[in-house]
Amino acid sequence: MPQLIDGKKISAEIKDELKAKVQRMKEGGVSVCLAVIQVGNDPASSIYVNNKKKACAYIGIESLAYELPEETTQEELVELVEKLNEDKKVNGILVQLPLPAHIDSDAIIRTISPDKDVDGFHPESVGRLCIGADGFVSCTPAGVIQLLKRSGIEIAGKECVVIGRSNIVGKPMSILLLRENGTVTVAHSRTRNLKEVTRRADILVVAIGKPRFINSEYVKENAVVIDVGMHRNAENKLCGDVDFEDVKGRVSAITPVPGGVGPMTIAMLMYNCVRAAEK
Ligand code: GUN
Repeated sequence: MPQLIDGKKISAEIKDELKAKVQRMKEGGVSVCLAVIQVGNDPASSIYVNNKKKACAYIGIESLAYELPEETTQEELVELVEKLNEDKKVNGILVQLPLPAHIDSDAIIRTISPDKDVDGFHPESVGRLCIGADGFVSCTPAGVIQLLKRSGIEIAGKECVVIGRSNIVGKPMSILLLRENGTVTVAHSRTRNLKEVTRRADILVVAIGKPRFINSEYVKENAVVIDVGMHRNAENKLCGDVDFEDVKGRVSAITPVPGGVGPMTIAMLMYNCVRAAEK
């Protein structure tokens, strides 16, 4: 069996470290507060938002929940974000995506103050990441870096291939691996000879969005495989973008789904909230 990269255990470690830190901050008179805004009641979003509130409660972060009706207008949402930008008590602002179609998500993200942008989605946060300046980093790719580091996997000098180029995962993931001195290739839907490209990878990060797409033919022997995908199959069981059973005999380390990258996203959101309060 390869090394199983245990996101449940590593995210629990991070949350416990943060809990202790928040306790110390409280003793010094500093509290941490996250505002979470959800528009409409998409069931998947409600689950995510609830998990975020639970993580806040565990760590000792105060969470303010804004559950707004589906009909909320762009102007009303902008007004709320601006009010929260001004509120000294609020350290982080998270607007749960996707927003209803009549709202311009990019405009809302740009309204969030970069100092409170705990999702790391604001163009200023992304720009800071690209030039290596201090700023908030998108939580899922930041979580992948923590998984690698805390599992003792060296990134410097390695061939890293990221499949997927989304603004939330693929692009920031590639920049973070570069920042850790990896040699980085980004593959995507227009990449020719994908198997040839992915078989170069010492570290393969898969964020394609297609269930069990990556089998052992895509993977170099002894590679480290990080699976960012999350799907439900026909039997209602969770699976990733990687065919775990087919790949596991070939790799040196791999993240399971569930219990790999998934739990790290919230842990890194909590990390960003604590940093926002420290600033
Ligand atoms: N929807 C799905 N994932 C996320 C996330 O990480 N942040 C926000 N704001 N919305 C999401």
